[in-house]
Amino acid sequence: MKTLSATAQSSPNIAFIKYWGNRNAALRLPVNGSISMNLAGLFTRTHVTFGNRPADSLFINGAPISGKGLERVSGILDIVRQSAGIGLRAEVASENNFPTGAGIASSAAAFAALALAATQAAGLDWPESAISRLARLGSGSASRSIPSGFVEWKMGESDEDSFAVSIAPPEHWDLADCVAIVAAGHKATGSTEGHVLAPTSPLQAARVADAPRRLQLCRRAILEKDFETFAAIIELDSDMMHAVMMTSQPALFYWKPATLAVMEAVRSWRKDGLQVAYTIDAGPNVHVICSQRARLQVAAFLREVPGVSDVLQANVGGPACQV
Ligand code: DP6
Repeated sequence: MKTLSATAQSSPNIAFIKYWGNRNAALRLPVNGSISMNLAGLFTRTHVTFGNRPADSLFINGAPISGKGLERVSGILDIVRQSAGIGLRAEVASENNFPTGAGIASSAAAFAALALAATQAAGLDWPESAISRLARLGSGSASRSIPSGFVEWKMGESDEDSFAVSIAPPEHWDLADCVAIVAAGHKATGSTEGHVLAPTSPLQAARVADAPRRLQLCRRAILEKDFETFAAIIELDSDMMHAVMMTSQPALFYWKPATLAVMEAVRSWRKDGLQVAYTIDAGPNVHVICSQRARLQVAAFLREVPGVSDVLQANVGGPACQV
């Protein structure tokens, strides 16, 4: 019998225009489109084997996972089983080469690698858009870790047309992400719970209404490599998402004093002529986007900011791929 197994690798991504809030939580259909870049050198590698076993099992960095984490994975495997017409259970083994809970969305890389490995293992030869849709069902941002380089997740009208596409390859623009780590622990409120709270903020409606304008400006800034416009729009988008978080009920405050210190430092370095801009996800760590040429200098500057314990660095990454 042919072995039903495959291994896939995928990078996390950093959003420039953020996904925050769903109009259908079960299908992870977002209230607005989002734009991101993949992070090269950081990855999750996932091995999926379907076989005659009593139940699905999941290992992350060698440790067995049960409960909610396993259920979320089984939900994806069920779709794959149904499409492939197989009833076999799977063993899923996943390894990250970057620390989980360090301000890098590990669920994005994890569900992207799972979607690709599971479909390949089951013998399904799906187009990129279908794999992006499947990854989306596991974690919204995972849809963006399937295509290459700079990526846009179109919100779509339904499950069928809500997937991510590449808007430019990695070599299009030599950007880098320097992640200033100000707290390495797991975040207090995860994104899935955060999306549910988004509509309780009176600011969310304004954020969503203005999203097409921000998407358009960000897309154009990337295509034209216009750093000034890019910096202004990604900082605005991140600030708007955090304003929504801070005004949700209950309120979500992710920033630490050192988060603000980095934001302020980035603004002053930019005033001095350095091309840098910040963006912050659902946590206290600050992603500082700069050119690859300036990367080492920016990382060194960031290490001097009080409260920054470490700096992770990544250039623009490629697509999820089979390994
Ligand atoms: C702040 O994709 O992690 O990073 O779909 O519930 O897994 P789930 O949420 P997730 O949310 C990401 C939120 C964000 C912004 C972004 O990456 O666009």
